[in-house]
Amino acid sequence: MRRKLLVGNWKMNKTPSEAKQFALEVVKGALYAQDHEIDLGIAPTYLCLQTFKSVAPKNMLVFAQNVHFEDHGAFTGEVSASMLKEILMDGSLIGHSERRTYDNETSLKCAKKIRALLNNDLIPLYCVGETEQEFNEGKTKDVIRLQLEEGLKDLTVEEMKKIIIAYEPVWSIGTGKNASEEIAENICGFIRDHVEKMYPSSSQEVRILYGGSVKPNNIAGYLRQNNVDGALVGGASLTVSSFAEMIHALSE
Ligand code: PGA
Repeated sequence: MRRKLLVGNWKMNKTPSEAKQFALEVVKGALYAQDHEIDLGIAPTYLCLQTFKSVAPKNMLVFAQNVHFEDHGAFTGEVSASMLKEILMDGSLIGHSERRTYDNETSLKCAKKIRALLNNDLIPLYCVGETEQEFNEGKTKDVIRLQLEEGLKDLTVEEMKKIIIAYEPVWSIGTGKNASEEIAENICGFIRDHVEKMYPSSSQEVRILYGGSVKPNNIAGYLRQNNVDGALVGGASLTVSSFAEMIHALSE
């Protein structure tokens, strides 16, 4: 049985004091999640990671939003997996569409970052998804197949089982145009089948999240789908009240 997982992606939002405030106020929601076997995670900015982790409920995973694939060196502005490990982070988002769009993050680069995380016992949360144009041209599965094959290459079956995948159609992120439950189930099912082809006997343990304009009022519908194990949420994860509402909706 795969446990449900709700992860908030804060993007470039919240100062350390705001992050700390959230961590203090989310305690009740986190207890409720624990009682209902729901896992939680938040991905704050680098600047807030330690503050957030030091105050956050123990059952809340803390993810970075990005990581460099090298361990150290002349890479101005970057942070490595071993550095995240030392400050007790749980993992990192990889290949979010905003990084693919604005920072030239390719799937092959993502593969190197995933390798660096796994080598440091950290959880990669690998994001895939098609643009609106690709969706309209019926290329969704081709795009995602390539993102999976390039981003998840050269793993062992045991490593594959540790990876979390998020299907986030680019056209649905921050737009309010969320994908239908049918699309989410269809593509998350496709992802699971493809992971199984790449790494036989791994896919039943891999958690696959849907992301893109998920809100308290639509999250439960996604979670009723067989192949959707949780959600990666941007805007609606920024307030404790809507994050807590989503936790409650997940337990229905
Ligand atoms: P959104 O963002 O929930 O604001 O659409 C999702 C994401 O970028 O992960």
